[in-house]
Amino acid sequence: LSQENQSILSANEWLTKLYHHLLRYTKDGKEGYSYFKERGVSDESIDLFQLGFAPNVKDFTAEFLDKKGFHKQLLVKAGLVTLQEDNSVTDRFRGRVIFPIRNHLGKTVAFGGRSLAEQEPKYLNSSESELFQKGKLLYNFDLAKKHIRKESEVIIFEGYMDVISAYQAEVKNVVATLGTSLTEQQAKLLKRYVDTVILCYDADRAGIEATYKAANLLRQVGCYVKIANLHDNMDPDNFIKQHGSEAFKKEVIQASSTFISFYMRYLKKDFNLSLEGDRIKYIEKVLNQLAVIESPVEREYYLRELSNEYNISLDTLTDEIVTLREKKG
Ligand code: GTP
Ligand code: MN
Ligand code: MN
Ligand code: MN
Ligand code: MN
Repeated sequence: LSQENQSILSANEWLTKLYHHLLRYTKDGKEGYSYFKERGVSDESIDLFQLGFAPNVKDFTAEFLDKKGFHKQLLVKAGLVTLQEDNSVTDRFRGRVIFPIRNHLGKTVAFGGRSLAEQEPKYLNSSESELFQKGKLLYNFDLAKKHIRKESEVIIFEGYMDVISAYQAEVKNVVATLGTSLTEQQAKLLKRYVDTVILCYDADRAGIEATYKAANLLRQVGCYVKIANLHDNMDPDNFIKQHGSEAFKKEVIQASSTFISFYMRYLKKDFNLSLEGDRIKYIEKVLNQLAVIESPVEREYYLRELSNEYNISLDTLTDEIVTLREKKG
């Protein structure tokens, strides 16, 4: 690690402690503390995730780190402050609750700040740097690692709050991609630890699209993919708040579907299944996916489902699969 990056890590460490201390123990951080309390975050979680608060002061962070002896240029490079035209600096995070983003070694490499009122942007991150590349890192991987190994399964969420809520619900083999698409690097990293990945993205349009993309990527690197059972625009954090942790474990995680079941539902959006032509195209697309499944039992399971739903004989569907499999060699 370069001297410069070491200094940035050290500045981040000071700040993690400062923001957390403010939130937890001072009047200046009361706003942030109340925010997390209203969202049901326990003191234990606040401490574990080192959640904090950056006050709405122009140069609170800059001043603090200046006193600790960090140079302006370094703080700019670290993405903690921005340089103004008059050569002064202003804090990047103001009036936001803070989520330190740790790397796999537990070092804070960046921060995410969420606005308290609904001002935009809702979340702000440290800018990308040598130390912080969003596509290479998974939020909470450092804490989740041992649980991922133990369960030999990992659950992927979109956001910070999903991870924290799940953790509080005693589901600890959890990481988040922080709103961006899963990358090949992240997929390969997970593959080193587990065979099975459960995708538990928000059940909204964007989340469903992201699920489809991430599932394909994970399958390409050899993971077995399951899709959590969330509906109606819920996100995992909402669900846990509304229905509790037992329901989350049973109805969302344990009730995960296979990729194929998800795909059969997902694909329907592209077709008008009341039209015969569309129905046939839909069935052919599904058969193409089924053809690559190695297990005959699993294949037959879905073929029966198709057969029942579209009133086509199992024999016909089976013949079609045999042909497709021969073509694929
Ligand atoms: P809450 O409203 O706090 O529950 O957030 P959420 O996690 O449910 O937010 P959402 O589903 O919209 O986004 C998922 C994740 O994407 C967040 O946790 C952030 O990491 C990231 N994200 C969301 N909005 C923004 C944004 O405006 N800017 C950036 N940089 N990241 C965002
Ligand atoms: Mn959003
Ligand atoms: Mn979302
Ligand atoms: Mn969400
Ligand atoms: Mn949410």
